[in-house]
Amino acid sequence: MTITIAIDGPAAAGKGTISKAVAEHLGLAHLDTGLLYRAVAARTLTGEDAIAVAQDLSAGDLEVENLRTAEVAQMASKVAAIPEVRLALVAFQRDFARHSDGAVLDGRDIGTVICPDAAVKLFVTASPEVRARRRYQEQAAQGSTDSYETVLTEVLARDERDMNRADAPLKPADDAVLIDTSDLGIKAAVDAAIRVIEQRMTDGA
Ligand code: CDP
Ligand code: CDP
Repeated sequence: MTITIAIDGPAAAGKGTISKAVAEHLGLAHLDTGLLYRAVAARTLTGEDAIAVAQDLSAGDLEVENLRTAEVAQMASKVAAIPEVRLALVAFQRDFARHSDGAVLDGRDIGTVICPDAAVKLFVTASPEVRARRRYQEQAAQGSTDSYETVLTEVLARDERDMNRADAPLKPADDAVLIDTSDLGIKAAVDAAIRVIEQRMTDGA
């Protein structure tokens, strides 16, 4: 079976959790494309040029520690607004999507730009307050002392930057199915996604 599943949405909507579970359920490969932008951001924070880094990104860059920090997330959304950075990362993502057994990719522009022909597109959302609460809890568990208010401000700043950039802004593809996880636990959100995907696969078969 060769199938591409595109899962987009804003920070802490549950994209990664859903993508991993869906990939496991269907036996597909999974790529968290946010990691590419985070990897570029991490090296940019050490003084390197974002475009040069994106053009020369290697597998090792995705394995460095601390790609999940708030500082890297903010810088990721800044470098992600640079068209040359985005362009440099397209081929890797499309090659991954062509993976022979099919693949799940999650990010911001998978359904709109990277894989416009994906068999199934999901746009996962939740209210900014719910998303900030989730990110706050994750960061606190890792020892961060940032307040909920600080995390909410950061989530809103990133939403604003990601939705309003000229190149590949965050928005649902016309044919994406929306899943609002504000009131869904992890299992309910994953089940909802799997139901939509299996329905689409049956319809398209
Ligand atoms: O990938 P994305 O940033 O969209 O979100 P995530 O990393 O999948 O989820 C962010 C956090 O919210 C994680 O700690 C998840 O366990 C949690 N989560 C949740 O509480 N309820 C959901 N329905 C989905 C995720
Ligand atoms: O996990 P979370 O949703 O918080 O962030 P992420 O998916 O790791 O993405 C970090 C940043 O990279 C986002 O805020 C976007 O600016 C950028 N990004 C993007 O522009 N396009 C993608 N396909 C994935 C991420």
